[in-house]
Amino acid sequence: MVRKFYEETSADRSARVAKQIGYQDPRKMHNLLIIGSGLIGREHIRVASLLGAGRIHGIYDTNQQSIDLAEAELQKFSNEKVVRYTSLHNACTDQAVDVILICTPNYTHHQILSEAVKSGKPIFVEKPMATSLKDGAEILQLSDSYSKFIQVGMQYRYKAQYVDAFHEVKSLNSLGSVKTISMSEYRPPFLDKVEQWNKFNEYSGGTLVEKCCHYFDLINLMAEAPPRDVFACGGRAVNFLNFEYKGRKSDIDDHGFVIINYCNGIRANFTLNMFANEFYEELVVTGEKGRLVASEKASTDKNRQTKASIMVEVKGHQYYEGTEIGYPANIEKSGHHGATFFEHEALIDQLQQKEVDAASPKQGLMAMLVASAAQRSILENKVISIAEHAKRNGIEAILHQ
Ligand SMILES: NC(=O)c1ccc[n+]([C@@H]2O[C@H](COP(=O)([O-])OP(=O)(O)OC[C@H]3O[C@@H](n4cnc5c(N)ncnc54)[C@H](O)[C@@H]3O)[C@@H](O)[C@H]2O)c1
Repeated sequence: MVRKFYEETSADRSARVAKQIGYQDPRKMHNLLIIGSGLIGREHIRVASLLGAGRIHGIYDTNQQSIDLAEAELQKFSNEKVVRYTSLHNACTDQAVDVILICTPNYTHHQILSEAVKSGKPIFVEKPMATSLKDGAEILQLSDSYSKFIQVGMQYRYKAQYVDAFHEVKSLNSLGSVKTISMSEYRPPFLDKVEQWNKFNEYSGGTLVEKCCHYFDLINLMAEAPPRDVFACGGRAVNFLNFEYKGRKSDIDDHGFVIINYCNGIRANFTLNMFANEFYEELVVTGEKGRLVASEKASTDKNRQTKASIMVEVKGHQYYEGTEIGYPANIEKSGHHGATFFEHEALIDQLQQKEVDAASPKQGLMAMLVASAAQRSILENKVISIAEHAKRNGIEAILHQ
């Protein structure tokens, strides 16, 4: 039986991890290869070190400074030396490596994954799995015929507030039949990246694909039906309007509003705003019995505390007035408020042949499908039929799988 990410509450997860000393057993150690040791590569190094079930065996990155920074990060936890590879091929074919983590910019995922599968090893690829639906579909096809698993880095499902929201809706049926889903993110502009790949649609896949695939994945998971049509508006209002890198002007959007109709009648929307001072994200789900709100407030200012909460406005519910939730502080601090830690735990579970519902290439492609339909809707100012959009990109089969 596949273990659902919302079977446990965030409190159950916290309690279990506090006791989970079995994971420190050196016989269970898996050798990890990190390809791309920038911001998220270093986060994977941190969560792997914290969980202690995998050790960083080697790093491959085309930028020496990134490898130096990653080694420095690792040395906070361990004195072990890592292998520094000089070619992708040598890295992927190292017999000692048990699993390959691809943490490079979006536009490189398809090419690096095509090389990585030659190794026959399990693979983790960061989100979005590609920048185009064509490349995403090829990765899905590859994964369908691959003997090992390919996990996609959409870890927001493991954030404490979404674990508990899904637990309420799916395990406890607290809202009755779900009717509407509303998701929003307010945050500061995109961060600096090595070679500034996230300032350009060509390298990132576009803002809604790059950043918001996380939220479309959550909405898809909550709706549990294929999306039928999408309408969106959005654009560039404040961020990077005059930003240039190597003579090229940034072209990414910084805000948008998306409406999605699902085939089972559920209606959803998503709001993005990237010129806020603080991070705030919220999921509101309404059903026959009432409303659930799951939210997270965070800051780049370390003096401001991160707060996650859940509220279930259903008569007699213990969380009618809302309650704060979260994971142990060391786990939250390791990155994405603990979501990456639990994503990594799911990766280790898969390595140990346990069936868990970590994000799959199909879910990765479905999130990209909604995001890219929204981006097209912004450009063409019309409702995009998902069936038509999938067909024009040659991936209509995914809607019937
Ligand atoms: N799951 C999440 O929440 C999350 C968060 C941040 C980033 N990401 C994803 O992780 C990926 C990396 O993002 P980041 O923020 O770490 O970017 P980054 O720019 O900080 O790091 C990327 C690293 O990849 C290296 N690189 C580039 N091309 C390479 C190649 N061909 N071979 C080997 N190394 C190469 C760069 O030198 C750099 O060190 C992106 O796909 C991004 O969307 C996911």
